[in-house]
Amino acid sequence: MALSRRKFLRLSSAAMVAPVMGGCSGSDTVPEPGVPRSAFNENSTAEAVTEGMDLKGKIAVVTGCNSGIGYETMRVLALRGAYVLGTGRTLEKAQAACASVRGVTSPLQLELSDLESVVSCAESIRSLNSPIDILVCNAGMRGGGHELVNGVEKHFAVNHLGHFVLVNRILDRLFFSWQGRIVVVSSRAAYRSAPAEGILFDDLGMNREYSDGLAYAHSKLANALFSFELARLLKGTRITSNSVHPGVISTNIVRHESAITRKGFDLWTRLSGKSIDEGAATSCFVATSPLLGETSGSYFEDCNAVTVQGDNHMHDREQASRLWLVTEELTRDYLVQHERPDWDDFKNGVRGKLSPDAVRDE
Ligand SMILES: NC(=O)c1ccc[n+]([C@@H]2O[C@H](COP(=O)([O-])OP(=O)(O)OC[C@H]3O[C@@H](n4cnc5c(N)ncnc54)[C@H](OP(=O)(O)O)[C@@H]3O)[C@@H](O)[C@H]2O)c1
Repeated sequence: MALSRRKFLRLSSAAMVAPVMGGCSGSDTVPEPGVPRSAFNENSTAEAVTEGMDLKGKIAVVTGCNSGIGYETMRVLALRGAYVLGTGRTLEKAQAACASVRGVTSPLQLELSDLESVVSCAESIRSLNSPIDILVCNAGMRGGGHELVNGVEKHFAVNHLGHFVLVNRILDRLFFSWQGRIVVVSSRAAYRSAPAEGILFDDLGMNREYSDGLAYAHSKLANALFSFELARLLKGTRITSNSVHPGVISTNIVRHESAITRKGFDLWTRLSGKSIDEGAATSCFVATSPLLGETSGSYFEDCNAVTVQGDNHMHDREQASRLWLVTEELTRDYLVQHERPDWDDFKNGVRGKLSPDAVRDE
């Protein structure tokens, strides 16, 4: 049987990138019922999904703004008129990124593995004393071997714990937006390559079994479940929380891989993946589309909400609630207690006081 050159390249690059792509569990996705469908798809770019939008007057925070999908997300939100606060692990990286895009942006330092840094970044955001309309929890890392940070496995600490604290510390600023949106960048790895049991509650250090791929997927499942539970806790407010898979895109995310795997990944994404401008489309769409003002707790791929079928934990309510409690326990010293406005009371000028426990019992 003749093999076309393109098919041959796709197969050989897929073989090289197998460790990065992870195994396929056989899970599949179907459109999520009840969520408005968009006309966009895997080929849509961030510019296309925000075409004609005027985001002037809106304030957005994008973590990991100096590279890959985060850079493009910041660039396009700023292009459409939003004032974007972009974070980088060093102020210099964030400054360089902010200076290179059109529009109004400000750089902030944020090192997610250091919860003191998360607190001080949140304080800088709060010091603006302005509503935050959009928060894109985009920053993420993959690879580099087994390491513990704050007593838990590094991917879980950086990709999940850091963003959990950031959201907690600026949530009140999202309450004061006309319609706050939190977008958590997860990954398809969360259901294709995460541990079969889901979150490893009894081994968050991943001391029993470790691979970079497994740890990354575990942290991305934590991202999806965090967003899912946050949406439940925010029910009745005007803040939405959704998670997204951006696509498979050649970015610096593979920096810890061997040269040959990086090359294979680059080749594979050119043939079967997305470009960076396509990769930022789903985040930008979920952050801005007027279609989604009331959509919360959903998971998006290619600019549409999907339900993941098969054996996975993406919509596992019990694990999501447990993860929330465990994460609160792990980060307790860095969290603030919230007064959650009840919007009916809010209209009458009274702030409702609800403890997270009261919300949970609803
Ligand atoms: N690319 C893909 O195929 C793909 C697929 C699914 C999901 N994603 C997700 O998409 C998001 C963006 O990734 P990307 O592909 O654009 O990768 P990238 O080019 O490597 O960008 C990642 C960003 O996160 C920042 N970051 C990494 N570790 C951090 C830490 N400890 N504290 C604060 N910031 C940190 C990086 O800063 P430095 O540059 O300073 O390291 C960079 O700004 C990630 O959440 C990733 O998991 C990507």
